[in-house]
Amino acid sequence: MTAARETYTPALGHAALTPVYDAAIALMTRESVWRRAFLEQIAPAAGDVILDVGCGTGTLALLIKQAAPDATVIGLDPDAAILDRARDKSRRAALEVDFEQGFASDAARLADRKPNKIVSSLVFHQVPLEEKRAGLAAMHAALQTGGALHVADYGLQRTRLMRALFRQIQILDGVQNTTPNAEGIMVRIMAEAGFAKVVETSVIPTPTGSISFYRAMRKAGGAQ
Ligand SMILES: C[S@@+](CC[C@H](N)C(=O)[O-])C[C@H]1O[C@@H](n2cnc3c(N)ncnc32)[C@H](O)[C@@H]1O
Repeated sequence: MTAARETYTPALGHAALTPVYDAAIALMTRESVWRRAFLEQIAPAAGDVILDVGCGTGTLALLIKQAAPDATVIGLDPDAAILDRARDKSRRAALEVDFEQGFASDAARLADRKPNKIVSSLVFHQVPLEEKRAGLAAMHAALQTGGALHVADYGLQRTRLMRALFRQIQILDGVQNTTPNAEGIMVRIMAEAGFAKVVETSVIPTPTGSISFYRAMRKAGGAQ
């Protein structure tokens, strides 16, 4: 897989900030609250093959592997520097996760790994609209029939306070890519990518805007 053909927004908006990513996310997002709740939604189990799209420093992938040591966990991210950090964290934690370089729109190439769950956290808000759609379509193609998609990300900002707080993320990641998420586009584009039973399952207020959880399924028998 190559990351050369496209560009991407680095984890904290600027490559120079990547070394402080984990500390910043802990401060900016009530991380322990939403990560624990998201892990409960994913419910990793022995035998699962779980693909984490936009895995960043690998925090979620490693939590999944820790919760279900007999699951296979694969992390995918276009940023070679952040993947080095993820591999380093995985070595130090002695947790085996396979980290691969690629965009969300490359996910279909991992279909042969037969993921029955695809997860993604804090990624789509910083991705251009076209890549949000292409990424979700590739994730749908990669997912096993009957499998589940779980996404945690900044979504519809329902109150003036949350909308105002979300401007901090827009300063880091830019207005153009982030606005569709704040206006609540995720459910619609997940359904348009072919996912069934798309639901927003939780909304968690944080100091940088509300984070929504979504769940969707790949139905048997083709695109829907
Ligand atoms: C804010 S970080 C989130 C990292 C991690 N998922 C977490 O929960 O901490 C966003 C990540 O998405 C990655 N990314 C950016 N554009 C992407 C794309 N088009 N496809 C997949 N990942 C992308 C970045 O490299 C970065 O690691």
